[in-house]
Amino acid sequence: MCGIVGYAGCKNAVDVILSGLKRLEYRGYDSAGIALSGENLLVHKKNGKISALEQSLAEALPSDTGSYHAGIGHTRWATHGAPSDVNAHPHMDCHNEIAVVHNGIIENYAVLKKMLIEKGHVIRTETDTEMIAHLIEYHYTKNSDLLSAVMKTVAELEGTYGLCIVSKNEPGRIIAARNGSPLLLGAGDGEMIIASDASAIVEHTNKVIYLEDGEIADVNKDGFKTYDLDLKKVDKIIEDIDWDIQAIEKAGFSHFMLKEIFEQPETIHNAFRGRAILDTGSIRLDGLRLTEDDLNDIHRVIFIACGTSWHAGLIGEYLIEEYARVPVEVEYASEFRYRKPILKKGDLVIVISQSGETADTLAALREAKSKGIKVLGITNVVGSTIARESDGGIYIHAGPEIGVASTKAFTSQVTVLIMLALMLARRHDMNAEESRIYIEHLHSMPDKVNEVLRSSEYIRKIAEIHKENKNFLYLGRGVNFPVALEGALKLKEISYIHAEGYPAAEMKHGPIALIDENMPVVFIAPRDFTYEKIISNMEEVKARGGKIIAIATHGDEEIKRYSDHIIYIPEVRKLLSPLLTVIPLQLLAYHIAVFRGCDVDQPRNLAKSVTVE
Ligand code: G6P
Repeated sequence: MCGIVGYAGCKNAVDVILSGLKRLEYRGYDSAGIALSGENLLVHKKNGKISALEQSLAEALPSDTGSYHAGIGHTRWATHGAPSDVNAHPHMDCHNEIAVVHNGIIENYAVLKKMLIEKGHVIRTETDTEMIAHLIEYHYTKNSDLLSAVMKTVAELEGTYGLCIVSKNEPGRIIAARNGSPLLLGAGDGEMIIASDASAIVEHTNKVIYLEDGEIADVNKDGFKTYDLDLKKVDKIIEDIDWDIQAIEKAGFSHFMLKEIFEQPETIHNAFRGRAILDTGSIRLDGLRLTEDDLNDIHRVIFIACGTSWHAGLIGEYLIEEYARVPVEVEYASEFRYRKPILKKGDLVIVISQSGETADTLAALREAKSKGIKVLGITNVVGSTIARESDGGIYIHAGPEIGVASTKAFTSQVTVLIMLALMLARRHDMNAEESRIYIEHLHSMPDKVNEVLRSSEYIRKIAEIHKENKNFLYLGRGVNFPVALEGALKLKEISYIHAEGYPAAEMKHGPIALIDENMPVVFIAPRDFTYEKIISNMEEVKARGGKIIAIATHGDEEIKRYSDHIIYIPEVRKLLSPLLTVIPLQLLAYHIAVFRGCDVDQPRNLAKSVTVE
């Protein structure tokens, strides 16, 4: 989730590129860089936000940066390699004559790296992107130009990329290529802008050309030519953008939260891509840094987290206990550190944190480490303190989450926990075929999530009916009990309605006293082994006049007898259902908050990252 800007025209390239990068900063913010193409190739990059790059550029470079009228820039959200000056884009070849900016992940980078080193190339960063610059260098012979060298290079890449490339030998020329990572061209008057997101283009022109996967564009100030990978010319349509800047920043969604809810098919995919291997039924989690002995030693897993991440931990408990038969405990970070937790050899502590900066979670991590216990981190933000201080870990690769109420990070955390549970289960008694079936189901999740997202308009209607209710109850059983907690938390956070999540059977021990016609009860009731029991709980609510909103499996007719509204989800293997059941709850909270006029993205009193105790 990084941002790319390229420019060729008559304006000051530094100004155009920096202002474009600022518009893309919400997509990635750990480091940034620029390559200017003119009489020479001038590259400058800096760890931190675009403002840090801007300041350092003003200090470090000669005042004649205004003489450059072409170049490429990048704002990074680290995946391979921690955020740093050196890992920032652009990346260069051995002779500093080719500069590359890249969005996406090159999956065969290790193979390419080995090959390039054998051929004598010197690799200077921890990134996958640097391999692209060296490959272009390798193919850029006396008889070729930048375009043909890039053609040959992309043919060897596996993975996703949006690329912009400049060469010292061909000033003013930018080659752009796309596969799985968006890239569009803006056609201005005597100028061309390239960007990964229209928000960096609209202030210059509303005429855009969307590159498709497998297309390469040859761009200079006078225009562009597009080709397929066989160097055949492709004619492109120039389209008009009619969105305002505000809307584009949220990719057309009215709130970041909604955008993030709708990103989940992609973010779930990003969490398991390259890790849940279908052919072999195996799980590869390279960042764990656990030896065979460490793995054999695990007698207990302790998840520690706060808020939504704690709910993900509870789901992890169901998954690991059922699949891998390893005992699990789930701790609130704030509670863990203020008592005298008993930790012993064989314990594995796993902290879960979207931001990687939550103060209580970090303190719990340090507490566990001080007792000599191995600590793994499941985090989203690369290079965050928790990621750095953990002994090993798993990035969830959900991209920047801007809405304060966590949505896509939760489903990505759950995806990672499913994989961790399967990995441990294979060491217990799950065979490769069983594991392969689970992995197959995991691979089908993005499509199933898309299907659930199509209910958004229907859920909006339910939200309108219930927007004035003062209390909500959320009930679920088994692995959907934590989902009930998460659904209630979402509603509380953004709509300021009091909501409680309970294990459905616990209703009879208290909450049932609250039920009347003004109390909507959300039942999470997919068809699994808890179904019959949950139907009994629904009858109990119905008998007391409660209004029921049910999350049920497609084709479930029986549930109609008890429910006022039903939101259907596709059928799914039982412990994977939270990835689907939580989506309607996120949407319900979102639509209710919008009806109530609440500030969805920045709810009162809350912070995205809680760095005080
Ligand atoms: C805050 C956020 C929540 C988040 C919690 C834990 O309360 O508003 O959305 O779940 O912190 O944050 P973490 O970054 O550690 O997952």
